Amino acid sequence: MMKLNELYKKIEDCQQCSLGKTRTKLVFGTGSEEAEVVFVGEAPGYYEDQKGEPFVGEAGKLLTELLEKIGIKRSEVYIANVLKCRPPGNRDPAPEEVEICKEHLLQQIEVIKPKVVCTLGNFATQVILGKKVPISRVRGTPTLTKEFFVFPLYHPAAVLHQRWMLEPLEEDFQKLREFLNSPISVPQLQKAEQLDLF
Ligand code: URA
Repeated sequence: MMKLNELYKKIEDCQQCSLGKTRTKLVFGTGSEEAEVVFVGEAPGYYEDQKGEPFVGEAGKLLTELLEKIGIKRSEVYIANVLKCRPPGNRDPAPEEVEICKEHLLQQIEVIKPKVVCTLGNFATQVILGKKVPISRVRGTPTLTKEFFVFPLYHPAAVLHQRWMLEPLEEDFQKLREFLNSPISVPQLQKAEQLDLF
């Protein structure tokens, strides 16, 4: 089995799509290779592209605070994005960029084997679930896909613009804490089946 640093070496000079020409730095992901939780955002923004690290701006600060409130250090989780390179001007990722880059993310998840993958916002949630479900309907509930549990959450960047979202996001982080504390239960599996995610 490949390790994360080997995976990184494989794609650090990636030119599989046109974002390879416009990026400053490829943003692979940061955190623990033994993480129980992997967070997945959409794509690097301006600061992430400059630094080569995900979630280093205001949204990242909020994510770190939310984690600390449930007793988890940022260094204990793993943080990545669906896209490894910034789309110019933060435009929406193009479908072919997602198709290519999603594979790198899935390989990272395969190496880490986390208990749960927390998708942040509509975009990452729909890519990982492979379904056009609104985040408002699926947030805060773990669902089982073929390979791993997915726990959708509002995107912290959305909360920065719509403060009313902070309370539900904090509640969902509490639910995440409970999920991590509990052994995986039958009702959770049944719920996943009802959602037809198998
Ligand atoms: N928003 C994202 O989705 N990802 C980042 O890395 C930063 C902000």
